Amino acid sequence: MAKHQLKINSIYCGDNLEILKEVPDESVDLVYIDPPFNSGRNYEVFWGDIQERRAFEDRFGDVEAYISYMRPRILELYRVLKSTGSFYYHCDWHSSHYIKQMLDQVFHPNNFQNEIIWRRSNSHNDGQKFGVITDSIFFYTKSSNYTFNKVFISRTEEETKEEYSKIDENTGRRYKSVSMNAPGQGESKIFGDRGLLTPPKGTHWRWSQERIDKALAEEKIFFTKNGVPRYKQFADEVEGKPVQNLWLEFRAISSHSKERLGYPTQKPIELLERIISARIVRT
Ligand SMILES: C[S@@+](CC[C@H](N)C(=O)[O-])C[C@H]1O[C@@H](n2cnc3c(N)ncnc32)[C@H](O)[C@@H]1O
Repeated sequence: MAKHQLKINSIYCGDNLEILKEVPDESVDLVYIDPPFNSGRNYEVFWGDIQERRAFEDRFGDVEAYISYMRPRILELYRVLKSTGSFYYHCDWHSSHYIKQMLDQVFHPNNFQNEIIWRRSNSHNDGQKFGVITDSIFFYTKSSNYTFNKVFISRTEEETKEEYSKIDENTGRRYKSVSMNAPGQGESKIFGDRGLLTPPKGTHWRWSQERIDKALAEEKIFFTKNGVPRYKQFADEVEGKPVQNLWLEFRAISSHSKERLGYPTQKPIELLERIISARIVRT
């Protein structure tokens, strides 16, 4: 059968191994999978007035059986992913270390970008051990040439005060003092009245002469008592804080959640939105 592009805004039902075989090579920008975690449980919910059964089995026996089930599906997903694409595998502690090893084999360890730790709940009673409240999401790419949009979230007032602890004498604005050097020897540059300054050994000035001149005119560069230039980064000029690999902002769907559709392992929409915004530029 001829391979065809996936239709947008469509749900394909059935075994993904069969459906993926019809999808052309390198045609997909972003893959997120939330497959069974090999948790050894059967998930079952009886939903609504008619008590419709919404369930799936998450028992594969040993971990080899689970990995053998997932591997051919991952190989198909790898094939359909564009060389610039991004891939996310959502899992938990049951098999995560085996999954990581399998993904390294398929994608290559150099293309492993992140293990995202998602805090799904505040507490969990797991008997005689520490309660497990996190899932892992492995983020891989197919090459080093891929799109990644930084995602920002707003800082709390407390975080702003902590990070932007200095106050500009003239304007009263909060700022932090940022180094103007980066590793790698570079040329001297002119810093206004201070003249030509040579960067410390083994470093270069991060900015172009034009950008330095502009920042000096805007009084955003100051000099330490040793005469080292530093940049004032003002809190009100930054977009927020870039999201790191520890995701604490949203919880798993609770029984009272408005989003809840009655599927036992449903994931919150904010989690998916974050993954999508890291990849897709919205217009
Ligand atoms: C952890 S749940 C996913 C829950 C889903 N992300 C949500 O938010 O509701 C795992 C799902 O993978 C499905 N699944 C398992 N093997 C599959 C396969 N070969 N092809 C397609 N889906 C499969 C199961 O039926 C189950 O719905």
